[in-house]
Amino acid sequence: MLVCICNAIRESDVRDAARKGASCPRSAYQTLGRRPRCGQCLPFARSIIEEESVGA
Ligand code: FES
Repeated sequence: MLVCICNAIRESDVRDAARKGASCPRSAYQTLGRRPRCGQCLPFARSIIEEESVGA
């Protein structure tokens, strides 16, 4: 499932980045070599990162 349409970032990409230490959407996207654009995906990306950090 795509999280970020602008950057074609998948949910699994965000989870991977979170497991590697990204604590917010911005740093997760940076890990993937991308940057937030429209910002629409940020709340969803944030909730995925929070899920991962709770599970860690
Ligand atoms: S959908 Fe992610 S920046 Fe636009």
